[in-house]
Amino acid sequence: MSRVELSGSILVTGAAGFIGANLVKRLLADAPGAHIVGVDNMNDYYDVSLKEYRLRALSGSDRFTFVRGDIADKALLDALFAEHRPRIVVNLAAQAGVRWSITHPDDYVSSNLVGFFNVLEACRHSYDGGAAGVAHLVYASSSSVYGANAKVPYRTDDRTDAPVSLYAATKKSNELMAHAYAKLYGIPCTGLRFFTVYGPAGRPDMAYFGFTDKLRAGETIRIFNYGNCRRDFTYIDDIVEGVVRVMASAPDRATGADGLPVPPYRLYNIGGGRPENLTDFVRVLSEELVRAGVLPPDYDFEAHKQLVPMQPGDVPLTFADTAALEADFGYRPSTPLREGLRRFAAWYRTYYMGEGQN
Ligand SMILES: NC(=O)c1ccc[n+]([C@@H]2O[C@H](COP(=O)([O-])OP(=O)(O)OC[C@H]3O[C@@H](n4cnc5c(N)ncnc54)[C@H](O)[C@@H]3O)[C@@H](O)[C@H]2O)c1
Repeated sequence: MSRVELSGSILVTGAAGFIGANLVKRLLADAPGAHIVGVDNMNDYYDVSLKEYRLRALSGSDRFTFVRGDIADKALLDALFAEHRPRIVVNLAAQAGVRWSITHPDDYVSSNLVGFFNVLEACRHSYDGGAAGVAHLVYASSSSVYGANAKVPYRTDDRTDAPVSLYAATKKSNELMAHAYAKLYGIPCTGLRFFTVYGPAGRPDMAYFGFTDKLRAGETIRIFNYGNCRRDFTYIDDIVEGVVRVMASAPDRATGADGLPVPPYRLYNIGGGRPENLTDFVRVLSEELVRAGVLPPDYDFEAHKQLVPMQPGDVPLTFADTAALEADFGYRPSTPLREGLRRFAAWYRTYYMGEGQN
């Protein structure tokens, strides 16, 4: 692998998103030689005010330029590359969510396929393999590419050709497209399969956030697959740490044993590596919500939960094998679930229930 300095221009797509905004924040703090260009279309898949709130936290720095725009807009993306000439590109912009892909499939084709294709093309036309051009493209894939694989923990060389949602199919497509571009044009690419990321100012469409909204409103939460679900949860700071380490080391072009070029392409899981039973997860969440004052101390949690069947597109278990990440970067996520949920609950309390809030 070759060292890539976290300096010069770095493009982060999806910069107002949960992972993107946290990544930009970290780079502003720890990569003083970098100018970060963030792009985001600010779509209303979930509450836009949360995206605006994340951006406000980044707005004080003159090393951050935000551009509101869509990566499916090729002209916009090409103009961004021409103006800023990024050395590192981190593609986090995507239409996320499994359930939404059942009702709004077009969004996935536009953002995840056309948008990602535009990113690849812009990298290709910038890339000269030398001092200029994109030195490393890092992009978000997802644990959903493993589908309903029974073999655990999931390794990146396991089969991933049986997606159970369009979202997963687009993420797998991204990996294939990036591989082809790495092979054809020598662009160093690293794909990251994230496993259920959670934390403060996270995504309201995700279960832990939705459960919190419902419990606070006194509504009943629905626990899918009768609670027989295990998820590998990953705290946001652990994801960001992994992304930053990966950004700084680009895969090299090499020659294989057959004498043919091996593309500069790598793929890693970033996950907690400790799947939690959904019922235990929800219990810890409710305890931390009580502790933070989001729920009253006498909250009758048992009376507000309902066990229901599996939803289409969901999988019963996710479990990351992070051995490759550890071997190459000396790193594995480590934040305990209770600690991460404690920070989420404290943030939720301040954001939604602090002074001046309802
Ligand atoms: N959060 C997770 O648990 C998780 C798990 C696996 C993979 N991922 C992937 O990580 C990436 C970041 O996820 P996140 O949780 O921060 O999601 P997010 O929805 O909070 O962030 C994505 C951001 O991209 C923006 N966006 C979407 N389409 C766009 C487009 N066409 N042009 C410009 N901006 C666009 C959205 O407005 C949003 O702010 C995504 O690619 C997602 O698929 C996330």
